[in-house]
Amino acid sequence: MDSVTLSWSSARHRARVWRFPREMFVLCKCTCRAAPGPSSIGADVCLHGFSHVYGLPEHADSLQLRDTRDGEPYRLYNLDVFAYDLYSRRGLYGSVPLLVAHKPDRTLGVFWLNASETFVNIRYSPTDHQVAAAKPRSQTPETDVHWLSESGVMDCVVLLGPGPRQLFSQYAQLTGYQALPPLFALGYHQCRWNYRDEADVKAVDAGFDRHNIPYDVIWLDIEHTDGKRYFTWDPALFPDPVGLQRHLETKNRKLVVISDPHIKADPDWSLFCEARDGGHFVKDREGRLYRGSCWPGECCYVDFSSPDTRAWYSSCFGLDRYKGSTPSLHVWNDMNEPSVFDGPEQTMPKDAVHYGGWEHRELHNLYGFYQHMATLEGLITRSGGSERPFILSRSFFAGSQRLGAVWTGDNVASWEYLKISIPMLLSLSVAGVAFCGADVGGFIQDPDPELLVRWYQAAALQPFFRGHSANVTKRREPWLFGVTVTAAIRTAIQQRYCLLPYWYTLFHQAHTAGLPPLRPLWVEFSRDPSTFAVDHQYMIGGALLACPVTEAALREAQVYLPGCGELWYDVHSAKAYEGGATLSLPLTLDTVPVFQRGGSVVCRSTGSGSCTAELRLLLLSLQGAADGELYLDDGHSFSYRDRKAFCLRSFSLMSDTNGHSDAQSSLQAV
Ligand code: NOJ
Repeated sequence: MDSVTLSWSSARHRARVWRFPREMFVLCKCTCRAAPGPSSIGADVCLHGFSHVYGLPEHADSLQLRDTRDGEPYRLYNLDVFAYDLYSRRGLYGSVPLLVAHKPDRTLGVFWLNASETFVNIRYSPTDHQVAAAKPRSQTPETDVHWLSESGVMDCVVLLGPGPRQLFSQYAQLTGYQALPPLFALGYHQCRWNYRDEADVKAVDAGFDRHNIPYDVIWLDIEHTDGKRYFTWDPALFPDPVGLQRHLETKNRKLVVISDPHIKADPDWSLFCEARDGGHFVKDREGRLYRGSCWPGECCYVDFSSPDTRAWYSSCFGLDRYKGSTPSLHVWNDMNEPSVFDGPEQTMPKDAVHYGGWEHRELHNLYGFYQHMATLEGLITRSGGSERPFILSRSFFAGSQRLGAVWTGDNVASWEYLKISIPMLLSLSVAGVAFCGADVGGFIQDPDPELLVRWYQAAALQPFFRGHSANVTKRREPWLFGVTVTAAIRTAIQQRYCLLPYWYTLFHQAHTAGLPPLRPLWVEFSRDPSTFAVDHQYMIGGALLACPVTEAALREAQVYLPGCGELWYDVHSAKAYEGGATLSLPLTLDTVPVFQRGGSVVCRSTGSGSCTAELRLLLLSLQGAADGELYLDDGHSFSYRDRKAFCLRSFSLMSDTNGHSDAQSSLQAV
């Protein structure tokens, strides 16, 4: 009943069938390597007793994976898709070939370690249709999963849980734990394609102070460079980048700049010549430099699959080499699927050749991962190994969580895209990529003020929190829509800052135990089947339940509060509600439905300050007998790891018979 059956086939091997009993952690490995050119490798996995599966990001679709019989399979093939279709199984910017299955007494994972183009078909039995038609349910439910990859070796791991926490931990042991972000990276980020020049950046920065809105990072897109040559600055628009960074630093704020993997094919540019002469570019099938078109025009593409090339690329971030950079500069890797404007499906042809003679088809889904990795190495080395950098990548693969953050790419300013951002971020979280976010307001087109406010409110309750918009959109800094809108956005951002001690503690849990900060309800209420398909509300850690508003002019929110016998407190009114029921909550533009679970302690900052550097005093929000945790360190270095310079404190609160509360805490490490 509680077993997994696996059968597999490849061009060279006959199908085999294994059936795995309960407690095994299984690794199935077959090291046949296909000859160059397309081949195929596949496996059928039958999950007995399961009728809910999740994971396999990135798709703009529901959290629970759908039965694919009536449509296309889930495709894992990293592509640059502008304004992607909603409720589609086509590939987007990144891929994680992890499928998670859940039922009340068991959570398990199937990890298919293959970076070539992959399709996954899913068949639930009985189908929803059969259930709806009330067919006798003598049949035990099961889910058949068919994996098919274009190439590569078969490397498949079945992770046997048995609960969500064990599953996340097993997957993290296999592919790595979430990097602990520097504290500033959990604050609010302000981005736009593009802030025009240094004066514009300083004016926007001052706007946040003038309007009393906290923020930590301002971003520069491709126009800050000299002709789309990354690692350079436009001499007219950004003549004094060091001065600009120092100016931001006086307020403890940072600058992030973009660095894409395509390099302008300009024989008069020393960086291009160095890469070409050092053999650091991808080749075409004839052994010449592979050339494709991207923002700068004709480009060559750095071959990040080569360790030497990664070391070279990392060295480009050295403070001595990257002129105009300072230690407060952090990095954004974009277009790294890779995006090639004139390539097939706007990416690199599969027969391009990488380090070691590997065809691009073999490692396509790893290209962005390797750029992210090289950038991380570069920024760590830049500080002599002492500082934790922040790097955002658009493309990703299994393990990208070790490197930094990802976002969901070119979304649109519409309610539907706000709504889909929740299942998209939950799918990423379930697949280990915990530091994730969606462009606030929508990248393409202009949001109306109500949508913008609701998007800020939602994203303030999600891991990576960045406002971003395309070059042709209207300006949308938070104070441009009148006092009511400014006030609502200010409140959303301030509340995020007040909760940062809690977010930071959750990231410590992700870093040490693989537990994602953003959790589907079933992760916390794993025996309650009514949570299994919920993807419009979610848990932030174990203590907070959020239900962002994703519909226009909504007057009342329906919030499911799980767990019979649980008590839930509205964090705004402190009113208590019983779990196991759906609550109707009247809404105004200021209402963001967030509930704290009875029996939990959430650590907050008493005020929001103007950026994360100003978070100081911590206040406990305590209700009755309650438990919680707080993690603190210097917020920016590896001292927590190298010198154990951190504080992890557990809190327990008990009421005495007179109803008086008494807080106890235990210090775990300092
Ligand atoms: C595509 C990215 O998705 C977007 O965020 C960015 O602004 C543009 N490239 C320009 O760099």
